[in-house]
Amino acid sequence: MDIYKRLLAYVKPHRWRLFVAVLSMFAYSIANSLVSATLYIIVNGLYNKDEVRLDNLPHIPFLSSISFPVFWIPFVMIGVFFLRGFFDYLSNYQMSNIGIRAIRQVRDDLYRHLVYLSHDFYSRGRTGDFLSRIMNDVGQIQGAITDVIVDLVKQPLVILFNIPWVFIWGGKYALFAILIFPLVAVPITILGKRLRKLTKSMQERTGDITSFIGETLSGFHIVKAFCREEKEISRFEEINRSVFEYFRKTIKVTIIQRPLIEVMGAIGAGIAVGFGIKYLPPDRFVAFVGSLFIFYEPLKKISKVNSTIQQSIAAGQRIFEVLDARPSIRNKPGALVFKEPVHEVAYENVSFEYEKGTPILQGIDIRAKQNEVIAIVGASGSGKTTLVSLLLRFYDPTEGIIRINGKDIRELSLESLRGMIGIVSQETVLFNCSVKDNIAYGRPEAAIEDVRKAAMIAYADHFIEALPQGYDTQLGERGLKLSGGERQRLAIARALIKDPPILILDEATSHLDTQSEKEVQKALENLMKNRTVFVIAHRLSTVQKASRILVMEEGKIVQQGTNEFLLRLGGVYKKLYDLQFNL
Ligand SMILES: Nc1ncnc2c1ncn2[C@@H]1O[C@H](COP(=O)(O)OP(=O)(O)OP(=O)(O)O)[C@@H](O)[C@H]1O
Ligand SMILES: [Mg+2]
Repeated sequence: MDIYKRLLAYVKPHRWRLFVAVLSMFAYSIANSLVSATLYIIVNGLYNKDEVRLDNLPHIPFLSSISFPVFWIPFVMIGVFFLRGFFDYLSNYQMSNIGIRAIRQVRDDLYRHLVYLSHDFYSRGRTGDFLSRIMNDVGQIQGAITDVIVDLVKQPLVILFNIPWVFIWGGKYALFAILIFPLVAVPITILGKRLRKLTKSMQERTGDITSFIGETLSGFHIVKAFCREEKEISRFEEINRSVFEYFRKTIKVTIIQRPLIEVMGAIGAGIAVGFGIKYLPPDRFVAFVGSLFIFYEPLKKISKVNSTIQQSIAAGQRIFEVLDARPSIRNKPGALVFKEPVHEVAYENVSFEYEKGTPILQGIDIRAKQNEVIAIVGASGSGKTTLVSLLLRFYDPTEGIIRINGKDIRELSLESLRGMIGIVSQETVLFNCSVKDNIAYGRPEAAIEDVRKAAMIAYADHFIEALPQGYDTQLGERGLKLSGGERQRLAIARALIKDPPILILDEATSHLDTQSEKEVQKALENLMKNRTVFVIAHRLSTVQKASRILVMEEGKIVQQGTNEFLLRLGGVYKKLYDLQFNL
């Protein structure tokens, strides 16, 4: 229920709409209750022929002297239905409006929150699951917000305003029909509990489907290359079948509720009608049956409320799980906005582990001065990417301190820290926007001349200009329209345009053809000028130009020095060198 309360908080900003909606619901319920009175008038007029006389209502004696001509009847009918329709429209319009505004807000909040969460959160979950939460789960709660409010306010009002009429028409026989209603609540509550469990499982499985589709679509070429189509299809069918199973069970529970209520209602109404048919005058009898039918709709709706609430609580849980996750990397209160030129970057006895008990980095000491190029080499999995990601504070070290100009980077604001670091990551990430926007990603206000300049220094201008719309060419998802080397050079241009004092290059291991290799190499050399550079190097020339090479093995720096020094020294570096760079 706490979850439901939190969902309702999203309605709060729309108080006045809610107010109008509730007023309209009142008006609607009154107009709706007049429908049975219309029936009474019609049958009454039918018997009395030229006049409607309200003289057979012993409970309300003051009406007995009232009469009016039958030609009023059509106007009364039209009037009643017009008012009923108008207020129905008004309340539904306002409520739907509140609902879609609320889900827009939830989606905005969720996305904003997701984007600010830290790396550790993402490595725990799956992209598709987050997608599913933003799309499916948020969609689910729309019904919860609007339908539930409507049904909990409007339907009880409809019942409330109808009750006097049932007694006016049916007299004491009305009691049979009314007494049965409270009994309906019992099975509904039991079914509701089961429904919540089913819904939660179903939403989780739906998240699985989204993840699965995302994975196979992004690994599309691998699926094809390994002829795994049929295997993937059967894995998909497996997940889809389990969603179907939950769906089927949910539906079974949901749709049993209506007939259940109808039958229970019919028993009560049946008894009442059985007596009424004997003792009531025709006009009152018809109105009595009519007023009993008016109960059906609200009862059905109210019985559904429980399941809607249960479903939305399940969805809400998944939404608030994300909203309640705190980014583990945050600005300290009063974090320092760093503006000085960078003189030194230092790792002091830094250790790190992703999971408790499995150290990935141990006792790392590095001191990099301005304009130094620090190359990091080592076997795959030795912790190179992890080492540089600590500088960006994707994670914080478990032990030790990283300092820039002597200041602990945890004291700096994230914006100023990340603002002074450029990164060309191991996997090139491009966005579904134009070439220009991809290059200017870190400096959206950059003029087109700056973008061109960056592209030129990154040796990317030739191929960009050869594209159909040049810098305005849309790249498509993940930049799939470009070759590996072209994408790398775009990434280099993107790092360049920020003109960062510190640069991190995580060279991709992907092999480029000799021409691209040369161009990427030249682009990198341009990029490294006048900065403090950490380069995870796979290329011989990059390593040779480095001021110092750090050799990593199983999370430790085992050797360091210049290329010549390390070659003369022999050992790990010499072995790596011979293996990787042997010409
Ligand atoms: N998000 C993560 N959660 C848990 N363990 C991780 C995570 N990322 C990396 N690791 C582990 O940390 C170790 C170091 O990984 P890292 O990516 O730093 O290696 P690397 O030296 O960059 O390798 P490569 O040359 O292949 O890029 C690996 O054993 C890897 O399995
Ligand atoms: Mg790596």
